[in-house]
Amino acid sequence: MPTHLSGLQPTGLPHLGNYFGAIGNHIALQEKGWDDFYFIADYHALTTSRDPEALREQVRETAICYLAFGLDPERATFFRQSDVPEVCEITWLLASVCGLGLLERAHSYKDKLARGIKPSVGLFLYPVLMAADILAYDSDLVPVGVDQVQHIEMAQDMAQAFNHHYGPVFTRPEPVMSKHTKVPGLDGQKMSKSYGNDLWVFESGKKLKKAVGRITTDSRSPADPKDPDGIVLFDFLRLFLDEQELAEWRERVRRGGPDAPGYGHLKQRLVEAIEEKFAPARARREELLSDLGEVERVLAKGAEKARQRASATRDRALRACGLR
Ligand code: TRP
Repeated sequence: MPTHLSGLQPTGLPHLGNYFGAIGNHIALQEKGWDDFYFIADYHALTTSRDPEALREQVRETAICYLAFGLDPERATFFRQSDVPEVCEITWLLASVCGLGLLERAHSYKDKLARGIKPSVGLFLYPVLMAADILAYDSDLVPVGVDQVQHIEMAQDMAQAFNHHYGPVFTRPEPVMSKHTKVPGLDGQKMSKSYGNDLWVFESGKKLKKAVGRITTDSRSPADPKDPDGIVLFDFLRLFLDEQELAEWRERVRRGGPDAPGYGHLKQRLVEAIEEKFAPARARREELLSDLGEVERVLAKGAEKARQRASATRDRALRACGLR
C-alpha cells in the first residue's frame, strides 16, 4: 500500500492557513485508506524557537488540533518527530552524501537570510532533516503547500545520491499540492504567524468578530458595483461557503445597487460560517484539554509505530553504506 506522509511545524496556535493548507488535507486523505504518517515537526521548530514553554504549548495545541478535527489514530500514524531518534541518524547519513551547493540553493533558507536572520547550522540543515523525515517512512506522496515543494525535490536528490552510491535504499517521494494553497492573511498577504495576520482556528465569540473585523477592506460604498475577485473577504468566504451561496454573494456585490451587501454584512456572514464549521472541533478540543493523558497516549502509540518503520529504513541504510 502506498504511503502518505507529511509534517507540520508547531510554530504557533494552528491558524486557518495551517488548517486549510495542511491539517484539513491530511485528515481528508485518510479516506483513501493508504498508509498515513503525520507528525509534528518539533525538531524543525527548534531552528527558530527559543522559548521552551511556548514550544511545549504549541506542540500540544497542534496535536489537539489534529485530533479535534478528526485525525483517526487507528488509521493514521500520528506522532511527534522528536520521538523517533532514527530520523536524526538518517539525517547524518543523508548529510554525508548531500552537496553543500544543494542546501545553499534552498529558497526558504535564502529568504530567511534576506530577512536578516542569523542562520544556525540547524537552519541550514533543515532540508536534510526534512528529507530524513520523508525517506525514513518510505513515503510515496507528500502533501504540502507550494512553499515546500523545493524541499521535497531536495529529498529526491538526496535519496538519489545515496542510492547511486549504495544501491536502492530509499524510495523516491513525490509532492502533492494541497487544494487551498493560498489562504490569505487578514491583510491579504499569505497567512503567517510571523506576519501577525493570522487567525487561530478555534477563535470564537467576540475575539473572532474582532479578528474578522481586521480583514482588509476599502472605503467603497455597498452600492458601488465591485469585482469580487479583488476583495480579500471573498478569499475567506470561499473557504467556508458552499458554491451556490458563494456565487450569490459574489453576484450581489458585482451588481451593486441598494440591495448589495456591505463589507460589514459579509464579515458577519463569515463569522457565522466559521463558528458553525468549526463548532464540533471546538467542542472536541475542550474535551481533549481536560484529558491530556489521552493526547499523550495517542502520540506515544504513534511513535512506536513510526519507529518500527524508521528503524527498518535506518538498518537498511547502515548496512548499505558499510556501517554494519
Ligand atoms: N517544513 C515543513 C513546513 O514547514 C514541515 C515538515 C517537516 C515537513 N518535515 C516534513 C513536511 C516532511 C512534509 C514532509 O511546512
